[in-house]
Amino acid sequence: MATILLKDGQVGCGLGVYDADVLIEDNKIVNTFDWGKEIKADKVIDCKGKLILPGLIDAHVHMREPGQSYKEDWETGSKAAVAGGITTVFDMPNNQPPILTVKDLDAKRALIADRSYCNYGLFIGFNGKNISEINKAKNIAGVKVYAATSTGNMIVGGGDIEKLFKKCNKTIVVHAEDEVSIAENTETYLAEFDGREIDPSIHSKIRSPECAAKAVKFVCELAKKSGHKLHVAHVSSDQEIAVILEYRDSGVTCEVSPHHLLLSEDDYGQLNNFIKVNPPVRSRTNVFGMWKALKFGEIDIVATDHAPHTFVEKQQGYMQAPSGMPELETLLPIMLNAVNSEGLEVKELVKLCCEGPAKLFGVKGKGQIEVGFDADIVVVDMDMEREVKNEELFTKCGWSPYHGSVFKGWPIMTFVGGELVFKGGKVVGKKVGKEVEFEG
Ligand code: NCD
Ligand code: ZN
Repeated sequence: MATILLKDGQVGCGLGVYDADVLIEDNKIVNTFDWGKEIKADKVIDCKGKLILPGLIDAHVHMREPGQSYKEDWETGSKAAVAGGITTVFDMPNNQPPILTVKDLDAKRALIADRSYCNYGLFIGFNGKNISEINKAKNIAGVKVYAATSTGNMIVGGGDIEKLFKKCNKTIVVHAEDEVSIAENTETYLAEFDGREIDPSIHSKIRSPECAAKAVKFVCELAKKSGHKLHVAHVSSDQEIAVILEYRDSGVTCEVSPHHLLLSEDDYGQLNNFIKVNPPVRSRTNVFGMWKALKFGEIDIVATDHAPHTFVEKQQGYMQAPSGMPELETLLPIMLNAVNSEGLEVKELVKLCCEGPAKLFGVKGKGQIEVGFDADIVVVDMDMEREVKNEELFTKCGWSPYHGSVFKGWPIMTFVGGELVFKGGKVVGKKVGKEVEFEG
């Protein structure tokens, strides 16, 4: 059996950072040792001055297969993941066709098998009529519910969502924005442009924080009444956080996406519809609010909502440009940059991006550097300063909202199941990604 020793690095966990050598045997972490011990291994990798973290688990991505592989496919998307230190992704069901049945899930599994550099789990979607399929589905991350229109048009009504909370046996993840408010606001704000070119910043007014908070309140009430587990996707405003805090006792959890931690309405001027996303980017006060909520433990996990669209699609006018942006390659640098600027601690990063998602979704054997856990590991250079460049990205869409930004702290090696798949800016390994196992 092949062994690899990651030597003289510092290991990050949910409690902090400690000095240790990490021994990998095949696909597992078999031991950690104090520095200076004589440990034999087939391959020794010098990690002096480097940080060794559990591979990140991204609980919200859109890999675009089946149906939209011109935007992204499993090869390019999973390359982007491992280049970003992400070793596991959970893929959303808003595909073409949407993933609504056990058969759809199995077809998607067959499509992905042997084509992924990272590990993966799948979500099933909800169309108001498929609760029995949801309940029959095995080994999935949960059910994704769209309370509002977004890419894929999988919106369902309040009555149907209520039924789902009563009858389904899976974790419910909700994209919470109120469609009635969106429709009203659209009419009001579009009228102001009266035939003139529409300013993309209208998006943040149409899909306002109030509109998100209203939908969050609606689903939190359902979670409370039914006792069912609810996870709110991509919170973006102080209003949503305030509502969620009222329902913490009912077990409601939430995630934030990197764009809501970094971009604001002030960026429309430069980035136009490239930062059109649902829910939209918010005011700077809300951006600060998201960091505060992270620090206070009010947000459980960070998930990218990696939603690639082509450059040409995003160059269109407001009404045509689709919502969403790529994020897989930039999540970890953004978080490490925050650690370097002392806004965040390594232990918080590990909780939010590794341990947290593993625990929240019940993933077996992942999210920690511990004996017996899978050898999904990212080695990080905290001192590396690098500029994000569109032409260097792995995502098929080939652009990033952070093009031209410099972040300090980058992944330099990524291991998936003990295989070195990414090193020094290149994907060097094989497509060793596997479907994860969920508890229960
Ligand atoms: C997502 C996409 O493009 O798939 N877009 C987005 O703006 N977040 C869809 C979604 O999850 O809303
Ligand atoms: Zn999404």
